[in-house]
Amino acid sequence: MADKAHVERAIAACYATWADDYYDNYYGPAAAYPPVHADLVLRTLLEGGARCLLDAGCGPASFLRHMAHAPIAWHGFDLTPEMVARARALATEIGRGDAEIWVGSVLDDGAFRPPGRDIAFDSAILIGVLPHIPAEEDEQVLHRLAGAVTPGGLLIAEARNALFGLFTLNRPSFELFAERLVDWPALAAAASDAERAALDGLREALAARFRMDLPPVRTGKAGEPGYDQVLSRAHVPFELAEAARRAGWTDVEILYTHFHALPPMFERVVPDLFRRASLAMENPRDWRGMVMASSFHLVGRRQG
Ligand SMILES: C[S@@+](CC[C@H](N)C(=O)[O-])C[C@H]1O[C@@H](n2cnc3c(N)ncnc32)[C@H](O)[C@@H]1O
Repeated sequence: MADKAHVERAIAACYATWADDYYDNYYGPAAAYPPVHADLVLRTLLEGGARCLLDAGCGPASFLRHMAHAPIAWHGFDLTPEMVARARALATEIGRGDAEIWVGSVLDDGAFRPPGRDIAFDSAILIGVLPHIPAEEDEQVLHRLAGAVTPGGLLIAEARNALFGLFTLNRPSFELFAERLVDWPALAAAASDAERAALDGLREALAARFRMDLPPVRTGKAGEPGYDQVLSRAHVPFELAEAARRAGWTDVEILYTHFHALPPMFERVVPDLFRRASLAMENPRDWRGMVMASSFHLVGRRQG
């Protein structure tokens, strides 16, 4: 089991230097791809009748900025103090100084309420946080998110799609094949001596089928660990949906975002076409999202 405190320290160090440009990198006009995930979250909240939202792992309040004109009260917390400081400054700048914003970890039960106050949230979102959660904590985090809202409340959790590896033909593909699909110990146990000897080289033979140098590893800016150097997992959508149901979510649906019209290694050959065609594919319920979308949202309601 991963040491929680150690994981949290590394994640907070990774994000500490990102508070000022995170919004520009992922939401602003210069972002490599428009924030289709945030548009989907906002649409889902508005259609679902949300009025009072908890944003767990809110970062620099990017989503508050994105939904600034929506008739939804917003409150949030984050593990990284620098993110919380930036979020507070932003809330004041855009006239949402009444937002409660506090430091807290989704790994703690107590973090889902502002210190010393109780707010009846009717909706909660968890965007970009699940990659940084140790696997054995996933269900508990989804359970806490459900517990934070009133019965029937709307729940949205975003995650990176592990099945995207079936399309990317690169290092994540190898990880999917070699670590999640192929059961090496079971094969070895079932193999004859001669077959076992042949199996030994197969991991390398498998790696040779993929571009193992891609994507480039994201390192830190100033000596801190980068995104790919801290715990940053991808999830299998169906597994996470099952975990959500066990955690007290009902009416769970999987919605796909950030489609790729071609495997991402081809983007640099035809960048404009790649972007246009990918955007044209953005349909959260298109089955191809299972393998062509790099992220997905679980949407559901708290039981009761
Ligand atoms: C990819 S950013 C997303 C920020 C924001 N939700 C957004 O969509 O713009 C991930 C955020 O999760 C926060 N985070 C990571 N682990 C966390 C934890 N255990 N509890 C609370 N926040 C966490 C990080 O500090 C960071 O601000």
